[in-house]
Amino acid sequence: MKFYFAPMEGITLYPLRNIHHEMFGGTIDKYYTPFLTAHHNFHFKKREKRDAQPEYIAGFENYEEQIVPQIMANRPDTFLWAAREMKKLGYKEVNINLGCPAATVTNSNKGAGLLTDTEYLDKMLGDIFMEYDKDVQSASNADARTLPDISIKTRLGFTDEAEADSLMRIYAKYPVKELTIHARVREDFYKGQPRLEAFKRAAEVYRNEGGKADICYNGNIFSADDLAGLDATIKSENISSVMLGRGLLTDPALARVLSGGDALKSEELREYLKRLYEEYAEFIPEERNVIFKMLEHWAFLHVHFEDCERNLKLIRKARSKGEYFAAVNAIFHDCKFV
Ligand SMILES: Cc1cc2nc3c(=O)[nH]c(=O)nc-3n(C[C@H](O)[C@H](O)[C@H](O)COP(=O)(O)O)c2cc1C
Repeated sequence: MKFYFAPMEGITLYPLRNIHHEMFGGTIDKYYTPFLTAHHNFHFKKREKRDAQPEYIAGFENYEEQIVPQIMANRPDTFLWAAREMKKLGYKEVNINLGCPAATVTNSNKGAGLLTDTEYLDKMLGDIFMEYDKDVQSASNADARTLPDISIKTRLGFTDEAEADSLMRIYAKYPVKELTIHARVREDFYKGQPRLEAFKRAAEVYRNEGGKADICYNGNIFSADDLAGLDATIKSENISSVMLGRGLLTDPALARVLSGGDALKSEELREYLKRLYEEYAEFIPEERNVIFKMLEHWAFLHVHFEDCERNLKLIRKARSKGEYFAAVNAIFHDCKFV
């Protein structure tokens, strides 16, 4: 089983990817960047592009394959431009975002918004993969290509899981590198249990329609029990990879645990937090903003400390590096690590 670190906007940026890979990376096969928007005037925001630039990547043996930039686009020409830009940076694969549920995104027909108009989606993917095919055929070898491989991350539909049938029929028509299915519809956002039966059905429709891509499962894997609960689906649908999102934010050692390795240790978490802080401080000038970034992690990581409400409040109230680290030291000292 392969494990992927899910793209998460504002969180799985290069500081997290670098530190996570260095400390726990042996068990993660691919890290996805949060989406990079391919704007209509063919540019990326500087901040977004920086996240994919090789000079900010540290410690990866082969970032070209271990990191997958995700692109948010609603037109074939902007997507193809962005994919070519990523290929110039060395990436072997890019992923297209067909799942983001935020209204600001879906209202401009991006992310999960593209799932509402299957005719347009089919045409967009048709144009993209026509260029991809031409590129593959005209290049003498993989290095001579101008486009990387293209994978898809999708939900089961916008409002209704029955929409998955027509979506899968569309995806099956194209030489998609890998198909990640987040087992929810857009209206679910991130809530409730994943729709496992609908996921299974979608995987079957995809295969019956001749889809060749490996299928990756995504949704609510937080523990070995959660993965065990998926065992029958993984076997019956021949799933070779799972994508972990909030589970890895809650337990950075999750993929190790799922591979049969040791649980997260308190010292490891301490080191992880310290290094994340240092890495964020390199590109965020204001101490307070570095602390805000760390609080995004604490929103998930606090579960490791028993009866820690008072200590957590101190972390949240910290306004300087000194206050922050004093509060972090206190939580490790005062609260039982679980
Ligand atoms: C804060 C946050 C940001 C996210 N940003 C992205 C994103 O940029 N691209 C994307 O495809 N999915 C994004 N997702 C969805 C995750 O990649 C993943 O599909 C979702 O969290 C379900 O997996 P999980 O249950 O393992 O967390 C985001 C999720 C969260 C919670």
